[in-house]
Amino acid sequence: MKKELVFKKERIEIRSHLASSYDRLIKNDVSHGLGLEKKSLPSKYFYDSRGSRLFEKICALPEYYPTRTEMSILREAAPQIMEDFTSGDIVELGSGANWKVRMLLDAAGQERLKDLRYVPVDVSESALQDASEELLRIYPELEVLGIIADFTVHMDLIPSERPRLMVFLGSTIGNFDERARRDFLKGAAAAMKPEDRFLIGFDMVKSRDTLEAAYNDEQGVTSEFNKNVLHVLNRELNADFNISHFDHLAFFNEEKQRVEMHLRAKRDMEVSIEGLDMQVEFRQDETIHTEVCRKFTESDVRKLVGGAGLEIERWFFDKKSWFSLVELKL
Ligand code: SAH
Ligand code: AVI
Repeated sequence: MKKELVFKKERIEIRSHLASSYDRLIKNDVSHGLGLEKKSLPSKYFYDSRGSRLFEKICALPEYYPTRTEMSILREAAPQIMEDFTSGDIVELGSGANWKVRMLLDAAGQERLKDLRYVPVDVSESALQDASEELLRIYPELEVLGIIADFTVHMDLIPSERPRLMVFLGSTIGNFDERARRDFLKGAAAAMKPEDRFLIGFDMVKSRDTLEAAYNDEQGVTSEFNKNVLHVLNRELNADFNISHFDHLAFFNEEKQRVEMHLRAKRDMEVSIEGLDMQVEFRQDETIHTEVCRKFTESDVRKLVGGAGLEIERWFFDKKSWFSLVELKL
């Protein structure tokens, strides 16, 4: 596959594995998803530069408990994790603004930074580039290799010569459907070596009220984030979605143990997607399913990681057990 070097300076290099494949990926995903009886779109298309900024705003909302809860766990857990991981690559999948990795780097301490390389992997070029440069300003000793890629497609392109501490935070693992989650973890386990570790954040099942409030914030930031996928389709595929004709919808589906986000059509309409040469019909109240956010129990996590052939080295929780961080090994 063509690898595009986005830029390289003294201690930072950013490569894009998406440059040559994005157009094909988005066309396939959108024509498939909007052609289904129950329309859906992959949640990775939320994250252009505006979507990444909106997600950062979500993280600071009073209703959105996952970010601050996971950060409080990581603050306590980081010294133990970094005591055992002394040198190699910290590979962060879906790194976003990479606030969280700073806790791991702080726990490693200044003098060990030269033995570590940070490898953020994200589809959002702007988020990855801004965050990587900022990290270098904070940790001048650190080496950074940024990889713009889709972790559902490009996992085998992530370097694996050195020991790796893989981190997948925020409960982004909950944004896969069941099958994709199992396959993803099995694939990751198959690429792990005995010295590697995998740190994964899981959002746990809790009350409907708490969950639904987190995805229906009062300021309407999550609604903007959800609708951003239509802006992305208008720009990337020359579609003519009228965004004001859709409502944000987020609810806890108890049977499936997940919060679902949808965009609901306010009226019958036809949308043209020029880049796909496609017309899409919507009936009033029909929805596009835009995201699943699975919530986990301890037994779900055990089943998932056991099924991938991984062992739990350590398991960290907050006091209310709202969120957990699992450190895995082969
Ligand atoms: N890890 C951060 C950000 C979570 S938001 C945190 O815990 O707060 C999810 C991140 O994953 C976004 O930055 C988004 O751009 C990225 N992402 C989503 N789907 C992706 C995919 N298929 N491949 C690579 N990155 C993806
Ligand atoms: C990135 N991901 C874990 C977030 C979540 O909660 O599932 C994305 C998000 N969607 C709406 N709010 C936040």
